Amino acid sequence: MLEVSDLHVKYGNIEALHGISFRVDEGEIVALLGANGAGKSTTLMSIMRLPPPEGPRVSKGEIKFKGANLLPVPAHTLVSKYGIGLVPEGRHIFGNLTVFENLKLATFARKDREQIQRDYERVFALFPRLAGRKSQRGDLLSGGEQQMLAIGRAFMSGVGFVLLDEPSMGLSPLLMGELFRVLKELNDIGATILIVEQNARIALKYAHRAYVLEAGKIVLEGQSQALSENPAIRKAYLG
Ligand SMILES: Nc1ncnc2c1ncn2[C@@H]1O[C@H](COP(=O)(O)OP(=O)(O)OP(=O)(O)O)[C@@H](O)[C@H]1O
Ligand SMILES: [Mg+2]
Repeated sequence: MLEVSDLHVKYGNIEALHGISFRVDEGEIVALLGANGAGKSTTLMSIMRLPPPEGPRVSKGEIKFKGANLLPVPAHTLVSKYGIGLVPEGRHIFGNLTVFENLKLATFARKDREQIQRDYERVFALFPRLAGRKSQRGDLLSGGEQQMLAIGRAFMSGVGFVLLDEPSMGLSPLLMGELFRVLKELNDIGATILIVEQNARIALKYAHRAYVLEAGKIVLEGQSQALSENPAIRKAYLG
């Protein structure tokens, strides 16, 4: 579904990704693991292609989605035309809008009114915490609830491929578990997921496969089960 090959990415003159290759197949949950500064967010931003100067610049390599070259595609059409949605690091929900308004905003590019209604019900069933706070302002939600809203928004945008940047950041172990179970449910009903995580333990529990990024290079890859038994991974990421 998503195929990244020999991707080199720069900020100004400094190269942050030194030729990484990975793929995500339809129906998978794939995790991209790595320490601070490894290049995880840069990888996601390169796929979503936030334009310079805010974002990284692809200097070499390919990003293909369902066989189509994504690089010349205008970033704003990735959601509407390709069904690719991003849940960015730090959530970025609209604090002055209500929970419901935040969700509604995400449906702007959709025309399937009846399915949208069913999707609202689905999101509120998956996240009962949000259901009880439909008319509460976004900025009055707890951090965990905001994270759920950010994921609910990606779901409401109707995308089939969701990229998430460290969704577990700042969450209690309890909420973290809840969040990953919801991701698994979304995956079960058809969403393909690429998730960036520092928390290797929980990511390897839920992902089918994973890649480990170190200083802009992929140094390990494999099935989650095999990786969680790998001594180098255990030492560096699982304590
Ligand atoms: N806007 C930017 N301008 C210049 N360099 C940047 C910029 N954003 C990131 N970098 C550099 O690119 C490298 C990769 O950063 P990136 O944010 O992708 O790491 P990360 O794996 O997401 O880390 P973290 O776990 O801390 O979020 C780092 O060396 C970082 O300093
Ligand atoms: Mg990051």
